Amino acid sequence: FSLKPYNTFGVDVKARYFIEVHNVEELKDALEFSDSNTLPLLFLGGGSNILLTKDFNGLAIKLNLKGISEENINDNEVLVAAQAGENWHHFVMYCLQKNYGGLENLSLIPGNVGTSPMQNIGAYGTEIKDIFVSCKVLDLADLQPKIFNLEQCRFGYRDSVFKQEGKGKYVILEVTFRLTRTNHHIKTEYGAIKSELENLGITKPTIQDVSQAVINIRQSKLPDPEEIGNAGSFFKNPTIPLAQFEILKQKFENIQGYPNGSMVKVPAGWLIEQCGWKGKQIGNVATHKLQSLVIINATGHATGKEIFDFSTEIINSVQEKFGIELEREVNII
Ligand code: EPU
Repeated sequence: FSLKPYNTFGVDVKARYFIEVHNVEELKDALEFSDSNTLPLLFLGGGSNILLTKDFNGLAIKLNLKGISEENINDNEVLVAAQAGENWHHFVMYCLQKNYGGLENLSLIPGNVGTSPMQNIGAYGTEIKDIFVSCKVLDLADLQPKIFNLEQCRFGYRDSVFKQEGKGKYVILEVTFRLTRTNHHIKTEYGAIKSELENLGITKPTIQDVSQAVINIRQSKLPDPEEIGNAGSFFKNPTIPLAQFEILKQKFENIQGYPNGSMVKVPAGWLIEQCGWKGKQIGNVATHKLQSLVIINATGHATGKEIFDFSTEIINSVQEKFGIELEREVNII
């Protein structure tokens, strides 16, 4: 069964078995099937943060649980819960239509609601941890539902318990967010948002304006996976000790850094560009011409292995030039 339509890189690998599940009962049936046939499992959400490098000799389960529910908690706030299979951007648009605030900076992020807690998705000054309340998961050990609250999720930059000790142990079924109904917190500190709002001539932005600004920025520099295969940022922005940053600054005076305590976060896109990779193509794979942090399936025919090898070359050249080790953000399967 080809997984090409189920990963945004558009890589053509095969799974031995594939099933799409629409509710918990179907999910449990699929898990029993895998159990009785001792098949390894691969869970697919929106497929926007994975790189499939070879055929999968097991059961791929596409999570297609749908539905959004809400509960007012006070005059100012509402809890909104979305099932794992809801498309993230559709969910954001649904909330904005109801004038619920909190998700606007996260507009147009590819993927589904169910995978948003895995890596604490974030962009333009917001991470889901800022509005996250809890998520409901299915524990694969006993097939019982469990709730993870904010603290238990241990969110960090592109990180959570589900990428660490909880890896492979749970399936996220539903995520609940706390959103504002009035007195929205408009977040425009991120430079690109500020200048886009200026371009649009907006001085008192609404949450819908912020969303539109983010959409414009993303569309202007990130490739649409529908048109060109990619998985967004391929690497994390590395964090290095301040002392190391100071030394680099003497050699590379244009290096940018965002201090965070005794550490500094450095934009990986800049490091990669400085190594001459911006827009560079090898075979079927390239970096995006406007954002070197995004690796693309340039011809549509790239294999997962080709993309992986390309990313290794980038890691090696950044290591050589800057002494910084880039870490892949995308899940390698
Ligand atoms: N830059 C370059 N060259 C490049 C790319 C970037 O010099 O080729 C510089 C930019 O000029 C800018 C800095 O790097 O000064 C940061 O660039 P940008 O604002 O585009 O953001 P980013 O750090 O590259 C991160 C997230 C994105 C998110 C944006 C906006 C990570 C790994 N990526 O990218 O998330 O949309 O910030 O908040 O943290 C994703 O995870 O898939 C993703 C797209």
